[in-house]
Amino acid sequence: MRKPIIAGNWKMNKTAEEAHAFIEAVKNKIPSNDNVDSVVGAPTLFLEKMVEDTKGTELKVAAQNSYFEDSGAFTGEVSPYALGELGVDYVILGHSERREYFHETDEDVNKKVHAVFRNGMTPIVCCGETLEQREAGETAEWIKGQITNALKDLTEGQVSNLVIAYEPIWAIGTGKSSSAEEADETCGVVRETVADLYNRAVSDAVRIQYGGSVKPENIAEYMAKDNIDGALVGGASLEPESFLKLLEAVK
Ligand code: G3P
Repeated sequence: MRKPIIAGNWKMNKTAEEAHAFIEAVKNKIPSNDNVDSVVGAPTLFLEKMVEDTKGTELKVAAQNSYFEDSGAFTGEVSPYALGELGVDYVILGHSERREYFHETDEDVNKKVHAVFRNGMTPIVCCGETLEQREAGETAEWIKGQITNALKDLTEGQVSNLVIAYEPIWAIGTGKSSSAEEADETCGVVRETVADLYNRAVSDAVRIQYGGSVKPENIAEYMAKDNIDGALVGGASLEPESFLKLLEAVK
């Protein structure tokens, strides 16, 4: 039985003050970790404050990126070592916005996954196809390739513990969500890829989220599907009330 995981991805939104107000509004209403893992992915600037504000609560904190070297001459980059020291729990890696605007490759994502594990955190590894790829019938092959590359040289134990987020690019921030059936089918491709690369025990353990225009009104449809274990949510995770409704729907 896989525990659901709902993660908000705030992207480049909110100020430190707004983030603090959000945590104050939700922190005593987060469902028990026994039933669902609740995570919020905040901008790097106020992760330290988020970790402090969420101490003793059921809410976990995610970074939205980190580099693949622990330290050194990499001006402007985010050190996974420093994130781990801060007490950050998860790091979102390979989001399609990072791949598109910041030219992250599958190889970068794989190196970052290793760095996140090395520093005691859990990666949330994103994958997803463009509308053109979906319409050309290339989704399954594309996703298999992304997953195979992202998981290169990881151990069975690491893969069993990580989270994969399937986010069709055409459904992100567009209000156009993938149907629950389509999302489940592609999350199934992710799971089969993990089974082929490792074994059935690992593919049964890995948690797979769907992301792309998930809202309190539609989250239950996704969560009812066999291959979907949670959601990675952008817009609908920004307001405390909406975030709490997402958690309510799955606990
Ligand atoms: O990482 C979450 C994301 O890309 C989906 O965004 O706004 O469609 O929920 P949104």
